[in-house]
Amino acid sequence: MSLKALPKVELHLHFEGAAPPSFIRGLAQEKSVNLTGVFNEDGSYAFRDFVHFLSVYEAATEVLKTPQDFARLTRAVLEESANHGVVYTETFLSPDFCGGRDLGAWREYLHAIQEEAAACERDMGITLRGIVTPIRHFGPEKAKETALCAAETVGDFLTGFGLAGDEAKGKPKDFDYSFDMAREAGLRLTCHAGEWGGPQSVRDAVRDLRVERIGHGVRAIEDLALVDELAEKGIVLEVCPGSNVALGLYRSFRHHPIEELRKREVKVTVSTDDPPFFHTTMTREYEMLNAAFEWNEDDFKTLNLAAIDAAFCDDATRDRVRKLLE
Ligand code: HPA
Ligand code: ZN
Repeated sequence: MSLKALPKVELHLHFEGAAPPSFIRGLAQEKSVNLTGVFNEDGSYAFRDFVHFLSVYEAATEVLKTPQDFARLTRAVLEESANHGVVYTETFLSPDFCGGRDLGAWREYLHAIQEEAAACERDMGITLRGIVTPIRHFGPEKAKETALCAAETVGDFLTGFGLAGDEAKGKPKDFDYSFDMAREAGLRLTCHAGEWGGPQSVRDAVRDLRVERIGHGVRAIEDLALVDELAEKGIVLEVCPGSNVALGLYRSFRHHPIEELRKREVKVTVSTDDPPFFHTTMTREYEMLNAAFEWNEDDFKTLNLAAIDAAFCDDATRDRVRKLLE
């Protein structure tokens, strides 16, 4: 079987960050939104570094204004994922980008996403679940409003709560109130850490937010005692190697610590993060891991079974998807 056709589970995908540039450009033209600086001349997203990436990302979200826009984006994203063999995906959704934390608007957008995701599941056999995600650099107070939106809309579709944005802005502890609220509402927890923050940021997220998964977490490798702790506690890392290489964290896949983390028995999974921004797809991630570390179909199967075990869906969905992987 080709790596493209292999059934895959993805746990770390930013919804707006998965929008093809042509999709964003099309909406911008329809709505006369000025997106100067967002695209290179060749049509790709333009950014210099991570912080600039975040601002370009935010600018691109300006074109998403109606429930219909979110429905169309849902289909565009899921078509692309399904084309690369993805059978289950979790996506970060932020009320900061969908509805400006207005709970009424958020509900409408969410409804549109959920309806279209259900139609895509019927059409393409791909399952989507949402992780509500405040943006770190918008601060802890806005995160509380986001947690409230999450608590009000938790259900079969919205099953997780996360934290994205600039890791340099604030410590996990600053967001503990929001994470406590989300946990009490029944949401499962993950947090971006150990991408730009060092190993201590991973320790802090595990201790202060009591998350069961970490977005990235790869810089844990700089502290082997922490690596052992992650392995022992069964904390799952949502590793996005292509994103890390594209943003210059590591020189190449061969220099990426995913193999070392796996050897040290940390539960690693593989995702794309923001595929069109980082010129990647799930197929490319697998091909690069195969080239760098000779991971084969059996390795990928083990990886995907670990990913569905760590997924934030209900058990019936998990069992159904697991059968597709076996
Ligand atoms: N990292 C952190 N925050 C983000 C990202 C990312 O890759 N994409 C969108 N927001
Ligand atoms: Zn991410």
